[in-house]
Amino acid sequence: MQTLRSRRSQSVPRLVRYASIGLLAMLLTACHTDMYSQPKFQTYEPSSFFADGRSTRPNVPGTLAVDQVKTDTYLNTGLIDGQPGDVMPFPVTADLLARGQQQFTIYCSVCHGVAGFGQSAIADRGPIVPANFHQQRLRDIPIGHFVDVITNGFYRGDPNNGGYQSMYSYASRVKPEDRWAIAAYIRALQLSQNATVDDVPPEELANLGR
Ligand code: HEC
Repeated sequence: MQTLRSRRSQSVPRLVRYASIGLLAMLLTACHTDMYSQPKFQTYEPSSFFADGRSTRPNVPGTLAVDQVKTDTYLNTGLIDGQPGDVMPFPVTADLLARGQQQFTIYCSVCHGVAGFGQSAIADRGPIVPANFHQQRLRDIPIGHFVDVITNGFYRGDPNNGGYQSMYSYASRVKPEDRWAIAAYIRALQLSQNATVDDVPPEELANLGR
């Protein structure tokens, strides 16, 4: 009996003690201003760190603010009034195709395969089924479609009606000129699988043993 009573009489001060420790901890942490007062420059404040004495830095060359990007142009989207266009916005050169091959290999071949048949390590593992660029529908489709898919991704069905996005946009990684370079290279890949002797320039025929 004696012990029980003494324990009970101790428990009240202990509660008070814990409560005051908790209160103190809360008060002390509230005094931390580490995140609030960080070393930083106010707008237009001078700086001795940079040679030009300014803390405000110029834009990195080649960068734009988000609202400066004209997203609805043919160059950006491959679309004219919502429909894929069928002309290149600039000439196709050997250099452009080489650039397209390089960009395709980096960004597209991982899923679509280096020759564009939709066979790749990622496709093998499933469950996604990357498109085969040698199917007749994609051989006949206007070239702007490839730029559109790179820019906006690809939707299987209507996203508002049970459809889903089966390929994500590459707009943040592939700049507009490179989207066209890739599209032109896909056309070259398509031709490579369906060419005839008539497509070979006469001066090259000797190389085929003809
Ligand atoms: C992460 C995998 C992945 C990568 C990387 C990828 N794609 Fe795709 N892509 C897909 C899948 C999956 C589909 C199939 C969509 C479908 O059939 O629903 C597809 C479909 C397409 C289509 C067919 C659209 C149609 O009309 O059927 C085109 C064109 C295409 N991709 C182009 C590209 C290009 C160009 C790149 C590189 C910039 C690229 N893709 C990168 C997964 C990928």
